[in-house]
Amino acid sequence: MIEKIKDFIQEVEEFKAETAEKAEELRLRFLAKKGILNEIFAEFKAVAPEQKKEYGQKINLLKQLVEKKIAEVKEKTEELSSKPNDLDTSLPGPNINLGSHHPITMVKNEIIEIFGRLGFTVAEGQEIEDDYHNFTALNFPPEHPARDMQDTFFVETNPDILLRTHTSGGQVRVMEHQKPPIRVLVPGRVFRNEAVSARSHCIFHQVEGLYIDKNVSFADLKQTLMYFAKEFYGEKTEIRLRPSYFPFTEPSAEMDVSCSICGGKGCPICKGTGWLEILGCGMVHPNVLKNCGINPEEYSGFAFGMGIERTAMLRYGVTDIRMFFENDMKFLSRFKH
Ligand code: DAH
Repeated sequence: MIEKIKDFIQEVEEFKAETAEKAEELRLRFLAKKGILNEIFAEFKAVAPEQKKEYGQKINLLKQLVEKKIAEVKEKTEELSSKPNDLDTSLPGPNINLGSHHPITMVKNEIIEIFGRLGFTVAEGQEIEDDYHNFTALNFPPEHPARDMQDTFFVETNPDILLRTHTSGGQVRVMEHQKPPIRVLVPGRVFRNEAVSARSHCIFHQVEGLYIDKNVSFADLKQTLMYFAKEFYGEKTEIRLRPSYFPFTEPSAEMDVSCSICGGKGCPICKGTGWLEILGCGMVHPNVLKNCGINPEEYSGFAFGMGIERTAMLRYGVTDIRMFFENDMKFLSRFKH
């Protein structure tokens, strides 16, 4: 029997308890009612009196050892659970979700930056405009059919107040307050009473450009826009100006760039033509200059206006304009860099 106790002592000494479960197993094996120690105590009764001392000491040793091991594990596990700031600096840190600019902001900033190199600064227009700045001063006479080119949201109680249909009214506000030379961009949100679809939205963004000085010619307009197209779409980009009509410019044009997707060969994005329309432009109409207190005999200038959504759609291959307004995190996170 003494040998058996010594074996148990050795077993317990070698026992390495890492978890509370293992310690509980040990406790049950030795200290439970039907555990080893009670068994040994039962046998102890039959031990010869002269051996009792030695036996007794060994049994006590075994019991103390078991209790010590269990206490050790308990201490260890309690220590772990009572330390919430137990920091393992070798672990990778938690993911920090960085935000990014909206694609419309990114394109807008790039346009501003490119024209900024040519000396254009930024002016703010206003989203709630009056009829005068959105239409009349821009040479849209009252009842003129050109007003129907842009379906307008009017303020119900005052038909003179409206949500601007284009950023061109910003030109007027700048010319009213600044003397030439003027080189300015007016970026901003515009509103049109149109059905929302994949290709058009009732809210979108434009950037207006205006350059007024002595002897500004159509050649200056063309060169400025060509510079922009090559900087924005790439060195190989070509431009094409098609005659058009806007009440506030004469002559007026629409500008196409060679399709940056197919390089001009023709693809679904450019509908097989090799060209993409990106902006309207022209020489500022003398009536507009006069309306803003600038003498058309002395000064001339050009203006242009482009849609930011359309530009961003071409740049990023977005096929549905509505995506820009959905705040869909999956879509927006595509533009992180
Ligand atoms: N305002 C026009 C539009 O929204 C775009 C435009 C055309 C602006 C010609 C201009 C311009 O400044 O000269 O369709």
